[in-house]
Amino acid sequence: MESSGANRASADFAVQSINAVDKSFAAQSDQRDRLHVAIIMDGNGRWAARRGLPRVAGHRAGVAAVRRVVEHAPQLGIGRLTLYAFSSDNWRRPAFEVRSVLALIAAYLRLERQPLREAGARLEAIGRRDRLPRKLLRSIEETEAATAGGRRMHLCVAVDYSSRDAIARAVVRAARGLSGSGTPELVRRVLAEALTAESGDVDLLIRTGGEQRLSDFLLWESAYAELVFTDVMWPDFGAADLEFAVAEFRRRDRRFGGLAEQRSIVSVQCSGKPEGPAIGGAR
Ligand code: FPP
Repeated sequence: MESSGANRASADFAVQSINAVDKSFAAQSDQRDRLHVAIIMDGNGRWAARRGLPRVAGHRAGVAAVRRVVEHAPQLGIGRLTLYAFSSDNWRRPAFEVRSVLALIAAYLRLERQPLREAGARLEAIGRRDRLPRKLLRSIEETEAATAGGRRMHLCVAVDYSSRDAIARAVVRAARGLSGSGTPELVRRVLAEALTAESGDVDLLIRTGGEQRLSDFLLWESAYAELVFTDVMWPDFGAADLEFAVAEFRRRDRRFGGLAEQRSIVSVQCSGKPEGPAIGGAR
């Protein structure tokens, strides 16, 4: 008796959390219709080494590439851009490099706060916050607050981010709401909502720098992402490279496990995103 009441309560909690997330997605529906592009920005160190410069110079040049890409993204139909700025494994790097990268991120957020706001971009950081330097945390919180009303683009910066860690934390959140009552389907749905409320399904994942791996980035969210790997080092990446990757994405046939003739039905059911117009400009 007691346990069926508890089961009902947790099922209610699960349904409530799904409804809350559905509402928050509906509020951002202008962004949902556009592409979610995620980028693993790799190659800063090699870019610098080839020029006889310290690694940090590569990261500094990487910030300029971030600016170019953020500025150009909305013109390509990108509604959400997620950048892998600092992984939880990057703490293993020398202390000076760690401090420099985190300081560059903090400075970027401080300097770009107003331009992002004026451009209608909403900034959000994903990843752990409890290990970040206070200055960076303040930059994140102030930029998130200042840009909260942005509707043109959602810019996610992944800092101290690990996808496995994000999944583990989402399991804990989902389990709290589901204890004892979850069917596999309900658990999967609540877990998906707990995860993607933060980051969202990825349409196109780009990795620069010539490596072809995911490095613990958006593993759940990239289940059906199209992958584009390029040899271009991140500091050299620009508007034309982004345009090329998006054009490549538009050429791909996304079936989500279905058949080609079902494509339009399947893509609407699975991602809620209609196919966009083809973009030219392939290099
Ligand atoms: C990977 O290149 C890059 C990083 C670990 C840091 C990325 C950070 C930035 C581009 C600057 C700040 C970001 C924002 C959002 C303002 P690597 O050092 O691993 O390159 P390598 O493989 O050539 O050594």
